[in-house]
Amino acid sequence: MFESLQSVPADPILNLSVLYRKDINPKKVDLGVGVYKDEAGHTAIMQAVSLAEERLLVEEDTKAYVGMAGSKKFCDLLAQVTLGADHQVISDQRISVAQTPGGSGALRVLAEFINVAKPGSTVWVGNPTWANHIPVMKSAGLTIKTYPYYSKQTKTVDFDAMMATLKSDAKAGDVVLLHGCCHNPSGADLTLEQWQATADLINAKGLLPYVDIAYQGLGEGMDEDAAGLRLMANSVPEMVIASSCSKNFGLYRERTGTAIIISATSQQAVVAQGQMNSVIRANYSMPPSHGALAVETILADPKLNQIWRDELKIMRKRIKDLRTQLVEALKAEGVEQDFSFIERQKGMFSFLDISPEQVEKLVNEHSVYLVSSSRINLAGLNQANIVYVAKAIAAVL
Ligand code: LMR
Repeated sequence: MFESLQSVPADPILNLSVLYRKDINPKKVDLGVGVYKDEAGHTAIMQAVSLAEERLLVEEDTKAYVGMAGSKKFCDLLAQVTLGADHQVISDQRISVAQTPGGSGALRVLAEFINVAKPGSTVWVGNPTWANHIPVMKSAGLTIKTYPYYSKQTKTVDFDAMMATLKSDAKAGDVVLLHGCCHNPSGADLTLEQWQATADLINAKGLLPYVDIAYQGLGEGMDEDAAGLRLMANSVPEMVIASSCSKNFGLYRERTGTAIIISATSQQAVVAQGQMNSVIRANYSMPPSHGALAVETILADPKLNQIWRDELKIMRKRIKDLRTQLVEALKAEGVEQDFSFIERQKGMFSFLDISPEQVEKLVNEHSVYLVSSSRINLAGLNQANIVYVAKAIAAVL
């Protein structure tokens, strides 16, 4: 049976870590996979997480199954973190929530949920979007179409083109995938006015907003980064949200995320919860527990909560500072091309907006690893490598 299988190309993002590990150049720099690194280039366990884990080691008293939607406490806390504690959709009981295996797990669960509600639905994804969005949506049975998102000219969202395409080509019942904040891969986010205009168009055309928020807290702050999504949730009858604890709690391998469905009424939310649970049951039965337990321990304890928020603030500031420092370092290398947009963009990623050939040179000749689209993970920079990286970029321009 397996003889007929064709080999698949390596994952464009995750394979970079494999290549990086194999490289023996002592100067190698990893700006590939979206993982936060500290000044020492290490992805350390957050202190709040370690403290929560210590507590769990003493207090956790069972490894019996959790439910299909995971821990109720985690789901309640994460709905508050994502939507804001006093959001109307929470008090109106219009939400259904499930703890999922990471943000990708949430994306897949919600895609399958949509496919149950309306088989083969069309999902509009921005061009560009996270490389894995398309395989996740497609393998759930959905159809993919793209709308223009990022302008290489202005280095901001090409909002007019985005609106024009959705206005003319999206049909009632189609889904529009949006990034909650810290757009991956471009770092270019919608303004609040643009969120509102998108919500208005979604309402006018009867579309379903699907928001992926994987980097909440790494742009401007936990509440600031969710403001667009919260505004959307205020404005539309139905919406789905995939959120991740991979980056803001540093829980990557513990696979901790949340799928949220907003329905028009509380009765429909009960039905939606049942359908989502049955998607989960038929897929992986229930989520892994450890990461979510650590998160709920942190969120429910004022002291741990504060430690976590302080750590996240340091991470956020480090990324912002590195953005400024890279722009300065490029200038110091005599680069005349304007890279100041890097400073204005948000979150872990920006495009260098150089050609695939130039990216290849950075990888092969300088051991600076980045995605072929020229996306860099700013958090991979530090004081020891930033000048080297700026020199390498200058050399390939
Ligand atoms: C990324 O975009 O680098 C991260 O979201 C990691 C991944 O799974 O691709």
